Amino acid sequence: MSGEYQRTYRAFSDNPEQFWLQQSERIAWLKKPQQAYHQDEHGFYHWFADAELNTSYLALDQHVLNGYGDETALIYDSPVTDSKRQYSYSELLEEVSKFAGVMQGLGVGKGDRVVIYMPMIPEAVIGMLACARLGAIHSVVFGGFAAHELAVRIDDATPKIILSASCGVEVNKVIEYKPLLDEAVSQAQHKVEHCVIFQRPQCYAPLSECRDIDWATAMSDAQSVDAVPVAGADPLYILYTSGTTGIPKGVVRENGGHAVAMHYSMETVYGMRPGEVFWAASDIGWVVGHSYIVYAPLIYRCATVLYEGKPVRTPDANAFWRVVEDYKVTALFSAPTAFRAIKKEDPSAQGFKQYDTSSLKRLFLAGERLDPPTYEWLKEHTQLPVLDHWWQTETGWAIACNPIGIETLPTKAGSATVPTPGFNVQVLDVHGEQCEANEHGAVAIKLPLPPGCLPSIWQNNERFKSGYLSQYPGYYLSGDGGYVDEEGYLFIMGRTDDVINVAGHRLSTGEMEEIVAAHPAVAECAVFAIHDSLKGQIPMAMVVLKDDFSGSNEEVEQQLRATVRSTIGAIACLQDIICVPRLPKTRSGKILRKNLRQLVDGEELQIPSTIDDASIFTEISEQLQSR
Ligand code: COA
Ligand code: AMP
Repeated sequence: MSGEYQRTYRAFSDNPEQFWLQQSERIAWLKKPQQAYHQDEHGFYHWFADAELNTSYLALDQHVLNGYGDETALIYDSPVTDSKRQYSYSELLEEVSKFAGVMQGLGVGKGDRVVIYMPMIPEAVIGMLACARLGAIHSVVFGGFAAHELAVRIDDATPKIILSASCGVEVNKVIEYKPLLDEAVSQAQHKVEHCVIFQRPQCYAPLSECRDIDWATAMSDAQSVDAVPVAGADPLYILYTSGTTGIPKGVVRENGGHAVAMHYSMETVYGMRPGEVFWAASDIGWVVGHSYIVYAPLIYRCATVLYEGKPVRTPDANAFWRVVEDYKVTALFSAPTAFRAIKKEDPSAQGFKQYDTSSLKRLFLAGERLDPPTYEWLKEHTQLPVLDHWWQTETGWAIACNPIGIETLPTKAGSATVPTPGFNVQVLDVHGEQCEANEHGAVAIKLPLPPGCLPSIWQNNERFKSGYLSQYPGYYLSGDGGYVDEEGYLFIMGRTDDVINVAGHRLSTGEMEEIVAAHPAVAECAVFAIHDSLKGQIPMAMVVLKDDFSGSNEEVEQQLRATVRSTIGAIACLQDIICVPRLPKTRSGKILRKNLRQLVDGEELQIPSTIDDASIFTEISEQLQSR
């Protein structure tokens, strides 16, 4: 290390307020902040609360006003529908201003919530930015979630209106959204006033007369509206993420801190320059999509790629490299699972060599641990810097990274590199003491969290306190375990709770257990994650049936698969369900899920001395072998 990283980190840790006030100077505020942060009556931190800004102004208007209106803002590429379209900053501004006019006409204003349940199409981005323009709070729900998940989010966010589309398009199949939307709206207790539906040519959705509004018709006579000033601590969006129960957590993101963090990260974490092309191959339904498909690239004046397709099968494993060539992508960010899928189909990365990928300067990976074999494969075949970075929906941007905008550090396989200046990361033991180098512990962040991170959970301060702040007073508990080596490199080894990561999608085994346990034939169950070579993890359920159940096991297993799919969505991928005679437990009745995972993954069993009856492992093991 040349010391530049250390110097920057020290500047932050010596005076975080000064450090962030300095960073905030890069933002075109409507009213500049005087104070970095303050604590509210609950002790929660809010950044730049005394400032005023508008996030859509930062993402669009300021660039047009500065003479960059003709530069490309949004590149839509959709192999699943065989369509492409590009928007300049001026064009995107016009669409967003008009759509904000449509929503204003429907009574949407500052602080109102708007749920967005849309596929990866430009209108989804336009909807998000139009909310920001009005000071309304959007809550995007991933299109792969089923009606029940959408209904739960509608009830929590209580939106005035919902934006949706007639369908999403997956590999070789059209998924009608409208029946899912209608079902969710009828399941929800909260009643929305209107749904604005974008009709796609792949499928026409019948509209209900009073409630539904056709997007294109509304846009045809819409009036543009200007950006509304909001306070730095006013929420920009709520994004739900999985916790340990069936009730998702609404992560709140505030305008001021978010804008500063997005701008800072584009330079520090991603080493981008305005005018370059950034591609986060994710989905707007996830935090990666919010931060790095929509807000950060636009605030930083990069062109951003909105890719409606997969790494493979749309049409093949060359898709990523084709997009890089077509749009001269500078930096590509995706999940390790996407590259594992490419590696499986194109083991020697012929596609990378076949296309002109010379514009690509670096690869970024996050969403799950970057496993060393995938890291080595990418390094060997692309010869590019392969940069792992660790973050979560809650933080909205990288807690640990290789801070290439400050200094490029040597990478280490399996490590997300070092804490990003702004995050005071500590690995703590059960007593809250700092672990020694290489000693595993709970990864925590000393408060205050930097700008852009969640101030709380939407309408649920108690959950924020109990889930994140109470275990180690003065720290935010990340939920991940890991260690720091003797050179200060951070290794994130996985969750310490019931959250799992299936193909980069964060899901809750607790929620799946609730669904499985609700089946009338099920006495008890355990859902846990097992290793999968493509998706990283997949869930598995072990189920004990009630003694008086006389039907067939296969029938119950089939019903459980279908119920999880229809309740959470196809992305839950709970396929592996097995009926067992009983579950291993401690004498106090705690189910030993970790041991079950070790058994299925073929790892050495570390059975606690408190186990009630260890012979069950032999029985289950025999059952697994006979399958
Ligand atoms: N809308 C509706 N359904 C969706 C969906 C969406 N947006 N996304 C996924 N699904 C469905 C799929 O159609 C599939 O349904 P099926 O079981 O009927 O075939 C199911 O959910 C599972 O999909 P997926 O997880 O995508 O698995 P896959 O086997 O089709 O593809 C990968 C595997 C690895 C190629 C894919 O998961 C992938 O691209 N992952 C990257 C994820 C990512 O970028 N995450 C963001 C974190 S940065
Ligand atoms: P999400 O909130 O969906 O972004 O998921 C966040 C979780 O994904 C983290 O808490 C980690 O468990 C995992 N994760 C994300 N990025 C990484 C990474 N680079 N290395 C290890 N785990 C990661």
